[in-house]
Amino acid sequence: MAIRAKITITLTASAMAAAATAHTGATGVVLDRMNGMTAIRDIVAELAPMMQRTVPYDAFTVSEGARVISSHAGEKMLSLFPEDSLEGVTYARSEIWESWQDFESLAEDLEIYADALSAAARNGLQPAENMAAMDHSAMAAQPAPPAEKVFTIAELMGYAENPGEIAASRAVAEPTEPALDLTKLAADDLFNRISGTCSSCHAQFRAGRS
Ligand code: HEC
Repeated sequence: MAIRAKITITLTASAMAAAATAHTGATGVVLDRMNGMTAIRDIVAELAPMMQRTVPYDAFTVSEGARVISSHAGEKMLSLFPEDSLEGVTYARSEIWESWQDFESLAEDLEIYADALSAAARNGLQPAENMAAMDHSAMAAQPAPPAEKVFTIAELMGYAENPGEIAASRAVAEPTEPALDLTKLAADDLFNRISGTCSSCHAQFRAGRS
């Protein structure tokens, strides 16, 4: 799979520094999960400009990228967090194993949304004029975010000023809602759900910048 190296999203210097530092000295399963996380971050960074409409939308790249995110999510992600694996350099918090079900469901949400995006990539972006009024039921309970709003890397990493809001917005977007066929959603909607899952999990389970 050819993920283009060109990354046009604005990375905050501190987020990049944090990610770079994290690799130093990590070994074993901790290194494995950092590599997995870095791989999905690169894909998110590649897809974000398409979702923001600053580069042309390419359904194939979106679908393939989502497939790769999915392959790092769910069970695969969980297998890289064996109980109390906090050895060496890690930003993982011990709360992961105290609240394993929450952690597990975030990893599973990520897989569900990524699988949906892989299938729904051909749906393309939301029509520009519908941006203010997203009409699918799961989003009805919250003000629809402007569609040009794409998570910054800082938000994605859970470094945003208001991670609580991101975590709270997740509650109304449960993928298990029977009425909602995720594969009918627009790609940018699903992408925002994916980003929200990253930041919710980081806000709760990843230690802040160091
Ligand atoms: C189920 C929880 C969870 C989800 C979902 C999740 N992450 Fe993470 N992520 C973590 C944890 C915990 C760490 C810290 C791991 C460590 O330091 O041992 C981390 C670390 C990272 C890192 C830092 C790697 C490094 O080198 O320090 C990046 C980048 C990252 N995640 C990106 C993402 C992106 C992008 C997504 C969504 C597409 C995502 N993550 C989804 C829990 C999650």
